[in-house]
Amino acid sequence: MLEFNYRNVTTMILGQEHGLDIEEEFNKYQYKIGEIIKDLNARKDKPGQWLRWMNLGYSEETIWYIKEYAAKVRGEFENLLVLGIGGSALGAQAVAEALLKPYWNFLSDDERDNYPRIFFIDNIDPDTINGLLHVLDLKKTLVNVITKSGSTAETMSAYMIIKDKLEAELGEDYRNNIVATTDREVGVLRQLSDQEGYKTFVIPDDVGGRFSVFSAVGLLPFALLGIDIDEIVRGIKDIDLDLKNTDIKRNIAAQNALIHYLMDTEKGKNLSVMMPYSSRLKYVSDWYVQLWAESLGKEVDKQGHTVHVGPTPIKALGATDQHSQIQLYNEGPNDKLINFIRVKEFDSTLTIPKTFEYTGIGYLCEKTINDLMNAEADATRIALTDYKRPNVTITLPRINGYYLGQLLYMLEVQTAIAGELYNVDTFNQPGVEQAKNYTYALMGRRGYEESAKELKEKIIQVQS
Ligand code: PA5
Repeated sequence: MLEFNYRNVTTMILGQEHGLDIEEEFNKYQYKIGEIIKDLNARKDKPGQWLRWMNLGYSEETIWYIKEYAAKVRGEFENLLVLGIGGSALGAQAVAEALLKPYWNFLSDDERDNYPRIFFIDNIDPDTINGLLHVLDLKKTLVNVITKSGSTAETMSAYMIIKDKLEAELGEDYRNNIVATTDREVGVLRQLSDQEGYKTFVIPDDVGGRFSVFSAVGLLPFALLGIDIDEIVRGIKDIDLDLKNTDIKRNIAAQNALIHYLMDTEKGKNLSVMMPYSSRLKYVSDWYVQLWAESLGKEVDKQGHTVHVGPTPIKALGATDQHSQIQLYNEGPNDKLINFIRVKEFDSTLTIPKTFEYTGIGYLCEKTINDLMNAEADATRIALTDYKRPNVTITLPRINGYYLGQLLYMLEVQTAIAGELYNVDTFNQPGVEQAKNYTYALMGRRGYEESAKELKEKIIQVQS
């Protein structure tokens, strides 16, 4: 199981000004947290509550269909190209980076066991899309287009570009190279998939983008890449019981949600840094940043009062960012709560050779890089604590599907509980929708003419 250590947020370690009297706070919030957990679990099957992500570990039928399709296309494609953005891409990126062998795309077919290379288009930069199209043989590529709404401009424009090229190369057969993951009924991608006859997978009702990693949004690419999705699901199920526990002392998601909430509202730490000490977990931070930011950054509370709340998430990577951000974290404003992620055992060991034993770097010789990584993580944690900077540590025994599933699921539950503490709607994103609507207007989408006129005037004013 994951381990969670919050010692370095306590008054015992940080003192009264920056620390929390954690036992007292746990006791004080026990009732509220218990009610929140009961309420989330009571609402999770109800339509319109956007909590069905809590059931994704138990969707045996979907998992069966995903595995069946993955087995059917096994060995047919050299590449998998995922088109998606935000919640429709970040989870798959995080898991693929963590669980595939490093430098996967550079491995031979044998080394990849004939599973495809993986590419993502999650932006609309013409240079990188053109660059990718230059290196990718589309005929040998399976394209998984993922969008819940079925109309996101970035994803759908990439889809149209790729579809056009595929059709030019393959004619009618191009359809075999596309698999769509979208809503069951609504949206342009659903309509087109039915019309064109694509194989499709469904993003279940009441599962929002940033909580969709364990739906077909993530599980399909994982299965296509040979990642063991049963292991991921097993991890989720095993931690799920603990995360349903209404006793805060036994529920690590509730503990970290409360710590973040109190640190923000009572101690002025409204920045939440996610800092794994593992390059393989680098994109977990990107995924977390979206989850935390879109879920908790809100203008109004549940009663409609203007509140403008939300701790700002920041991504960092140990040890790399010790050489870019830690100076600020140690000596700058004391406004951050740092979430370290540690890995107990790396898959491999690398020993530093004796080469320059007689020089100033001799102390490194015959030690392992693993020891160095752990020493740096310990050193940074201790230094931050000396500077009275609050930090928590989540430890994975090792990086595999079982523990990664647990980590991501725990962070999802933590976010949902934090949303209740902040008293906001965790599952909407009106701020994102606004920018999406402005884009539609500026790009001439039907129905957005009035808004387009206003926006164009604003642009002229800014430019003049
Ligand atoms: O979490 C969310 O809801 C968003 O980040 C979406 O995932 C993102 O905007 C992409 O939306 P869609 O899947 O509809 O293309």
